[in-house]
Amino acid sequence: MKFFITGGSGLLGERLATIASNDDEIVLSHNSNPTKNTIKCDITDKNEVEKVINKNKPDTIVHCAAMTDVDLCEDEIDIAYRINSDGTRNMAQAAENIGAKIIYVSTDFVFDGDKGYYSEDDEVNPLGIYAKSKYDGEVQLKKYSTNWAIARVSVLYGWHKKANFTTWVINQLRSNNSINIVTDQINSPTYADNAGEAIFEIAKQDKNGIYHTAGNDRINRFDFTQKIAEAFNLNKDLINPTTSDKFIQKAPRPRDSSLNVNKIKKELGFTMETCSESLERMANCK
Ligand SMILES: NC(=O)c1ccc[n+]([C@@H]2O[C@H](COP(=O)([O-])OP(=O)(O)OC[C@H]3O[C@@H](n4cnc5c(N)ncnc54)[C@H](OP(=O)(O)O)[C@@H]3O)[C@@H](O)[C@H]2O)c1
Repeated sequence: MKFFITGGSGLLGERLATIASNDDEIVLSHNSNPTKNTIKCDITDKNEVEKVINKNKPDTIVHCAAMTDVDLCEDEIDIAYRINSDGTRNMAQAAENIGAKIIYVSTDFVFDGDKGYYSEDDEVNPLGIYAKSKYDGEVQLKKYSTNWAIARVSVLYGWHKKANFTTWVINQLRSNNSINIVTDQINSPTYADNAGEAIFEIAKQDKNGIYHTAGNDRINRFDFTQKIAEAFNLNKDLINPTTSDKFIQKAPRPRDSSLNVNKIKKELGFTMETCSESLERMANCK
């Protein structure tokens, strides 16, 4: 199968390329941060998207590219919508033109966090600009593609040159720095490699619809940080519990945006990993 992966310079895109089967052909794209394996494709440029997709003719597009800085999105509203919403529309139209499937990577932030442990058919209520623009991407996808899937993830982590929450914690604890971590934000931390495996499974089983491809936990950030310390044999005493009201964050965060991952198990026979399983895998991989 031939895959075209946007966001190839980002965490998930790069991990997808790393774990792909040797039988598959992978084309990875970037926007402003080229790597030796990526080609340029600015998803906000409709003509460029069409040209690149028509030339490469993938069977499946995995659309990971996004403006992912949640707080920056609050300041750069137009750019957030241009990338997360219009960019997804451009990818969906280009996929449809060549009869390709498109899998859009979305987020637990489409939910407001009041209920927690959300299923795919729960009602969305995105709170901030990042969340709203990513949800708008879901709307555009459904409008312009007839062969789509949505893979929602939560707090992505894994080895990558740019820090993510987990690699930041590892670096801080290795440097003997104490860190304050909130106890009142709950989600389903997702190992990028495991989300990637789930996404390839959706493609191979040719599924349509929404799937929660997140970690198999409902866990608060402080407890997750403790698990990181355990998996990497680091000093847990450096981790102090705190609460969100002590931090000024521009964008609103859902209180509990944890995701129920039963649907992918039931329909695809694919069980998402718990964070203990994933962190052990991550620790053994570097
Ligand atoms: N990170 C999380 O905790 C999290 C949580 C829930 C959902 N998600 C979703 O998961 C997906 C992957 O996230 P990630 O953390 O792997 O992302 P990331 O590491 O922040 O990388 C973002 C990627 O998007 C690309 N991009 C940005 N603007 C672009 C444009 N105009 N045209 C083309 N590419 C553009 C970047 O390319 P350049 O660097 O080359 O410009 C980069 O490759 C995203 O859709 C995100 O919304 C992430």
